[in-house]
Amino acid sequence: MAQRTPLKNILNASQFLLGLSPMDGITDAAFRLTQTQIAKPNLIFTEFVSAEGLAHNAVKLYDTLLFSPQERPIIGQLFGKDPQSFYTAAVILCHLGFDGIDINFGCPAKTVTQHGSGAALIAQPQLAGDIINSVKTAIDDFATNKVSINSLKLKPKVIEAINRNLQYSQHQTKIIPTLSVKTRLGIEADVSRQWIPFLLNFNLDFLTLHGRTLKQGYAGLADWQAISRAGKLAKSAGVYFFGNGDIDSSQKALEYSQKYHIPGILIGRAAMGNPWVFTGKQANFTEKYQAMLLHAQNFLKIFPHRRFDPLRRHFLLYVSGHPRAKALRQEIVQLTSIEQLCSLEEKILNC
Ligand SMILES: Cc1cc2nc3c(=O)[nH]c(=O)nc-3n(C[C@H](O)[C@H](O)[C@H](O)COP(=O)(O)O)c2cc1C
Repeated sequence: MAQRTPLKNILNASQFLLGLSPMDGITDAAFRLTQTQIAKPNLIFTEFVSAEGLAHNAVKLYDTLLFSPQERPIIGQLFGKDPQSFYTAAVILCHLGFDGIDINFGCPAKTVTQHGSGAALIAQPQLAGDIINSVKTAIDDFATNKVSINSLKLKPKVIEAINRNLQYSQHQTKIIPTLSVKTRLGIEADVSRQWIPFLLNFNLDFLTLHGRTLKQGYAGLADWQAISRAGKLAKSAGVYFFGNGDIDSSQKALEYSQKYHIPGILIGRAAMGNPWVFTGKQANFTEKYQAMLLHAQNFLKIFPHRRFDPLRRHFLLYVSGHPRAKALRQEIVQLTSIEQLCSLEEKILNC
């Protein structure tokens, strides 16, 4: 028997939710597990994953879709531009047991937008609508047993990766995920007055708006007046809404939620090197060092085949504000093992 994800009830029941925003190259399974162990957000997203890649048996992408049971509710995010690939990818995410499937209409990276994916889809509402409908149909077909992972005729190496992911997540009972979209205000200019009502026609479970245009990238400030306006529209449509952009503390999140009448907030960049951003705690460098160790241990356990290098970026952020940050940074950019990280303990703690 398929059950609706508990996330649906959480959205229905909750006034204020604080979630971890998806970040490509950052919010991998090790980051998310560490975040969960230190200060669990109300909901968590994977990094975005290519729908076309999943539909074409790209086995590497299954690392991005790894999640542990502690992370729930966990939402898998897809990007791309081909509705048929979104259908296949959504069935895969359903089978993997995600609590939600989120569609990315907000990524500003050239590698994504020049192919017509991410935020470029704001200029293609017809195609964007086809993509949403495709994911919706996939969820419905999965719930009613019209489609299953076997119908997709995936390659044996992909089935192997799926089974490994299922073992890691311990997912067994079939659940029906939520459907959501994460987007921006527009491409060149703010078109949210038309774009948000358009998206709200699709009976989404929730919608996230980052208050910048594609052109802005991450420059300037997020426009919280525009976010507030969109939040009002979502409320009228009965759709849960997350505002996003420049929130760097749980206090600010609550303040903005009240000031701009937004039920939910997502935090992205401020969680890098600071998992306590979800609790308001000011961690000291002993706690930060312990978090670095935990992050490294999780990374090595989850990705034993990977190089240590991607962790350096996180460690640089953990030590920001340290009195000896400059000297520490010089050592961190050369770290290749957990033993070398341990050799920095005294320097990090003595501050
Ligand atoms: C390194 C990086 C990677 C990102 N990757 C994604 C992504 O995969 N999917 C997505 O929807 N947004 C992505 N974003 C955008 C963030 O989720 C968020 O919308 C944005 O950073 C604004 O929120 P913030 O000010 O709290 O960071 C990314 C942002 C950064 C900085």
